[in-house]
Amino acid sequence: MDIGVFGIGYVGLTTALGFASKGHRVFAVDKDEGKIESLRSGRVPLFEPGAQELLEENGRRLHFSTDGEEAVERAEVLFICVGTPSLPDGSADLSQVESVARFIAERMTSYRLIVEKSTVPVHTAYWIKRTVNLYRKSEVPFDVVSNPEFLREGSALHDFLHPDRIVIGAETERAREIMRRLYEDFEAPLLFTDVKTAEIIKHASNSFLATKISFINMVADLCEAVGADVDLVSKGMGLDPRIGPQFLKAGIGFGGSCFPKDIKAFYRIAEENGVDFSMLKEVERINSGRWEKFVQKIKGVIWNLRGKRIGVLGLSFKPNTDDVREAPSLKIISLLLREGARVVAHDPAAGENAKRVLPDLNIVEDPYAMAEGANALLLATEWELYRRLDWKKIRQLMETPIIFDGRNFLDGRKLASLGFEYYPVGKPPLGRRNG
Ligand SMILES: NC(=O)c1ccc[n+]([C@@H]2O[C@H](COP(=O)([O-])OP(=O)(O)OC[C@H]3O[C@@H](n4cnc5c(N)ncnc54)[C@H](O)[C@@H]3O)[C@@H](O)[C@H]2O)c1
Repeated sequence: MDIGVFGIGYVGLTTALGFASKGHRVFAVDKDEGKIESLRSGRVPLFEPGAQELLEENGRRLHFSTDGEEAVERAEVLFICVGTPSLPDGSADLSQVESVARFIAERMTSYRLIVEKSTVPVHTAYWIKRTVNLYRKSEVPFDVVSNPEFLREGSALHDFLHPDRIVIGAETERAREIMRRLYEDFEAPLLFTDVKTAEIIKHASNSFLATKISFINMVADLCEAVGADVDLVSKGMGLDPRIGPQFLKAGIGFGGSCFPKDIKAFYRIAEENGVDFSMLKEVERINSGRWEKFVQKIKGVIWNLRGKRIGVLGLSFKPNTDDVREAPSLKIISLLLREGARVVAHDPAAGENAKRVLPDLNIVEDPYAMAEGANALLLATEWELYRRLDWKKIRQLMETPIIFDGRNFLDGRKLASLGFEYYPVGKPPLGRRNG
């Protein structure tokens, strides 16, 4: 099939590469000239494992452009994968979605299936349909379907090609049939629903996952207060199949481009429809309270922060991505800087993106240089390489060997035996000196 993809970010690029790898011809469109230039010259403009290889293998089936004319002309199926960021009141800014819908409407000359893949509030398909009806030049037939994406950055291609489920909200048999054909060699259950239901499935899924994280973080606070171990509490809870072990990892909170904005948007759309979903406000409040709480914990161990050198391991909102949108690391760093700490950070992939948010942040390429003379290290992102560091060497480089593990990721016992004071989340510290 010929497929058009509008918006070549984490989701659009994955969609384009994924369908190209299944043998489809893909017309990929983004208004960002730099991104398109990079893709045309064979270079993936973001960090996503496996993306570069897939681009090289499928280059001949991929056409990249800043102009969507050819995509609308050639492709019967057009995916909308543009951003849906938060507006100041928390609702989703759907102007990028509207602009693509209008672009398609003004150019289509025969049947087109418009697929909403961006995460959008319920009723968005209705607005896309209305936009197309307002701007199409003649009575060209079309359908709008909702096909939300559940991929996780860091394993995006695997998640796209091997999903747990494929949700398709469609109103006509023609649309359902095209979507069925598109996904016929994916080994995942296809769940057909009406459009509004599919839209809600995505927001409800992300909001539920975020709720699980905030829940376990509150449990972590209680564990910390009474000297219990939150990791074992999670294990004990997660063995119950009604609960499950996923997303019960205590830490410094969730970030990224999805959860924070999606819970806000879900809350707002519920409110607009007369439903008080204030539970989601609480999930958000708990999450944004994590950063200040973590800084208070650091102060409780190293006293004054002014002039202290703090090394931060990891900047991306999660490992295996260069995405720093809403990253807890940057929220915590901002608070530390405000307290007068000297922050030095390291990340294997996200340094450049972090610099755009905090231009004055001192980011080094060598984690050992970061540790030199440090009063404390703070692990913010669980990149695998941090487990394999030479911790004996780091112990010698640091002025005072103190580690705050914001993800309960490192081997605390080993670190304590090397002479570190080790502070995890929701568990008793190890190696703490008296007084
Ligand atoms: N990132 C994720 O993990 C993830 C997972 C599932 C769903 N989503 C959802 O998918 C959507 C996209 O997310 P993302 O992370 O890929 O965003 P992104 O910011 O990485 O990419 C969006 C892209 O759209 C482009 N764009 C904007 N307006 C355009 C237009 N008129 N024409 C062509 N291109 C245009 C931008 O230049 C940008 O490259 C969001 O709604 C998000 O919530 C994201």
